[in-house]
Amino acid sequence: MSSTILELISITKKFTQIGLDPVEVFSDVNLKLSQGEIVGLFSPSGAGKTTLLQIAGLLDSPTSGEIHINGRDTNLLSEFEKTRLRNKKIGFVYQFHNLLPEFSALENICIPQWCLGVKRSEAEEKSRSLLKQVGLSNREHHRPAELSGGEQQRVALCRALVNDPEVLLADEPTGNLDPETSKRVFSLILSLVKHHNLTALIVSHNVQLVEQMDRAVKLNGKSLEVLTF
Ligand SMILES: Nc1ncnc2c1ncn2[C@@H]1O[C@H](COP(=O)(O)OP(=O)(O)OP(=O)(O)O)[C@@H](O)[C@H]1O
Ligand SMILES: [Mg+2]
Repeated sequence: MSSTILELISITKKFTQIGLDPVEVFSDVNLKLSQGEIVGLFSPSGAGKTTLLQIAGLLDSPTSGEIHINGRDTNLLSEFEKTRLRNKKIGFVYQFHNLLPEFSALENICIPQWCLGVKRSEAEEKSRSLLKQVGLSNREHHRPAELSGGEQQRVALCRALVNDPEVLLADEPTGNLDPETSKRVFSLILSLVKHHNLTALIVSHNVQLVEQMDRAVKLNGKSLEVLTF
């Protein structure tokens, strides 16, 4: 039986701001991702996909509930330990690539490795090998503004994979691309997830893309509903 890599237990998120009504995005969300699974996350706009993904990736905290990674309750970790765990275990692809504009493609992929103390030459070698896997060897010195949307997302994918995470969290990684590029980048993501033996949670609005995953869940008002194809 495959083991659980990431588990969300009874997650609730409420945004509160002084002078404004609180926004309860969802409550009692439960989700288990097993080793090697590729799960789609689907919902209408504003239902909380980005919020949930950021909580799962330890980039934001839930109002209540637990996130377990490899069986460890992350509520028990210090901020420093959480950051380290995130850098090592989780690769995150944002909806808008979030690459640093002043750095080249190669440097953008090196940065997460430098944060873990990897030597410059080693980091560059690893980054080059990933750029090769996504067909961008000839773009390593380009800055993000000098890359097309599909190329930017491929660099962002390399950055997410560079520290050999166990989990890939991707927030509409192809949402801003034209349909043809979207299909190509999505196939690349799936093949890399399989090649690197990752577990993945991928947000998408595109039913055809969601159908290529192992299973899908839908954020429905307050909780998660399992979708069947
Ligand atoms: N920092 C914040 N403060 C207050 N409310 C917020 C904050 N961030 C998000 N929200 C609200 O939480 C809800 C969920 O937002 P979220 O971005 O997670 O939705 P989403 O499902 O990713 O939407 P989309 O498909 O448009 O990307 C929205 O109603 C949004 O207005
Ligand atoms: Mg979103």
